[in-house]
Amino acid sequence: MAIPNSFIMQLRQTADIQDVMSSYCSITRAGRNQKCLCPFHSEKTPSLVVYPDTQSFYCFGCGAGGDVITFIMKIENLDYVEAVRFLARRYNMEVPDGGGEDRAYRMRTRIYELNREAARFFHACLLSPAGREGLDYLTGRGLSEKTIRTYGLGFAPQGWDHLIHHLRSKGFTMDEMIAAAVVARSDRSGTARFYDQFRNRVMFPIIDLRGNVIAFGGRVMDDSRPKYLNSADTPVFKKSRNLFSLNLAKNQIEHRRLILAEGYMDVISIYQAGFHNVVATLGTALTEEQARLMAQYADDVVISYDSDAAGQKASERAIPLLSQAGITTRVLAMTGAKDPDEYIKKYGAARFKLLLEGANSPMDFELLKIKKEVDVNTEEGKLAYLRRGISVLARLKNPLEREIYAGKLAEETGVSKAAILDQAGGMARREERTAKKREWNEVQSGRALYQDRINPQKASHLKAAMAEEQVLIYLLRNPDSLEKTGDALSEEDFVTDFNRRVFTLLLQKGQETGAVDLSVLAGELNPEEMGKISGLLAKSREMDNSKQQLLDSIQVLKENREQLKPADLKDGGEEELKRFYEQQKQKKNRR
Ligand code: GTP
Ligand code: MN
Repeated sequence: MAIPNSFIMQLRQTADIQDVMSSYCSITRAGRNQKCLCPFHSEKTPSLVVYPDTQSFYCFGCGAGGDVITFIMKIENLDYVEAVRFLARRYNMEVPDGGGEDRAYRMRTRIYELNREAARFFHACLLSPAGREGLDYLTGRGLSEKTIRTYGLGFAPQGWDHLIHHLRSKGFTMDEMIAAAVVARSDRSGTARFYDQFRNRVMFPIIDLRGNVIAFGGRVMDDSRPKYLNSADTPVFKKSRNLFSLNLAKNQIEHRRLILAEGYMDVISIYQAGFHNVVATLGTALTEEQARLMAQYADDVVISYDSDAAGQKASERAIPLLSQAGITTRVLAMTGAKDPDEYIKKYGAARFKLLLEGANSPMDFELLKIKKEVDVNTEEGKLAYLRRGISVLARLKNPLEREIYAGKLAEETGVSKAAILDQAGGMARREERTAKKREWNEVQSGRALYQDRINPQKASHLKAAMAEEQVLIYLLRNPDSLEKTGDALSEEDFVTDFNRRVFTLLLQKGQETGAVDLSVLAGELNPEEMGKISGLLAKSREMDNSKQQLLDSIQVLKENREQLKPADLKDGGEEELKRFYEQQKQKKNRR
């Protein structure tokens, strides 16, 4: 399905990479470029750089990179054509008909439309006489009319096919309703029967960052089971990737701080109490993807899970995930209520605010937890508390923090603070040594470092491969020299297959479009390969990029082709690899 190159170029000019990326990442200025936390891996400090001049991005941490289309492919999980259509729609551009619309893309669009219609239907039901019970339930739980409107809450009436009828009247097919997971199918009696998935429940629409309704949660109004029913995953919804209420929270985050609650009702209560920076997972434990998503908006998260054992367990699991994503966590120490919703109702918003401000650091949280598990009134228990406390202490990197908690531990156990610090220090050093050893082993297994997954031939043809890369970089930066270079250098001068392929593509596309940039490659290379090219471009910014460099590189490739026999190449490669590695190491040390 060919989309004309000219359209791709036009799209790339319109869909500014910073503009597009800023709906997914929180981009900050870093000199001439922009930086943000990479949404494709967990990190604490931003290593993804956005380059406005080449309209590209590259993550120095994980190697993800490419142009705006690659970015959308990766983050929206779309193929190339879908990503182009996605961007075109966002910028109100019409994609020239290149052989019909993509089926998967069309289905997604239909599901968004269907979901929006279903949400409207549920909301209208709630406010109609038929929704009386639902409205009474929600207001009975203390929600104001304004809150109900803000969240677009609704009611799914009793009966098997109210939604089906409504959606059919709006032109949606049964296949679409099933794909959106709002209708289910049963084959029990031998014939297929279709019925509304959500019946007699109050409805919570789940809305993504762009304002699309992507799924629903529905709660019963009595004690029947299941208490909550959530949409299954669909082409537009993945539970593990979304957070309830992030669409509202993201515009109202102050001091880059978020509150993480356990459920829909907690979020809504907390929001209504005036804390708009609150989100929840969708009935599952926090995932790595969700932690990264939060890291785009927050440095600081107060975990406000239920006060029961399950909630505390969930907090324990969430802390390391958030911390890996670079987020500092604190845990709400809530007593007298089972969850934030109940707490706010019982004690009011002002006291909840105090609770938020006094939330415990993970250290307090861990010590408290240990204390609950051992009996500190016995000598044995005290010793166990001390031992486990010290091992928690050993993990603290901040010396001041270590001081404070050593003091606390000393006070509680009657052991001197100096002895505790000494023990913790020893333990930390031992752990550090193990970590260093592990790192060293990784370095020892050397090649791994330079094993280039995209261009596996590079390791054994280092010099030539680097010259090839120089050529590619030069061409991408100076498309006007494409023709001349094409005359001077041919495909056969390339040693590695990957670089040869890119070179050929550049020449070919250059002829077709009269210009060359990353976007013409995006249609031909996969996102990983695009990452590799963007990486080259990004790293080349600190290197010599002169015409002379290009000529030298061409020279290297020419000589290489003439002189080197395959057998020499292999040995040469080994030597070069070592030298290159030493060089890189020195460079790193200098930084
Ligand atoms: P209320 O009881 O209405 O106050 O809701 P809650 O949010 O306090 O519920 P609870 O603490 O029991 O559960 C927290 C979250 O887990 C809910 O918001 C749901 O997302 C999810 N959950 C709870 N019960 C079920 C269930 O039966 N099925 C599924 N799939 N998810 C559930
Ligand atoms: Mn609750």
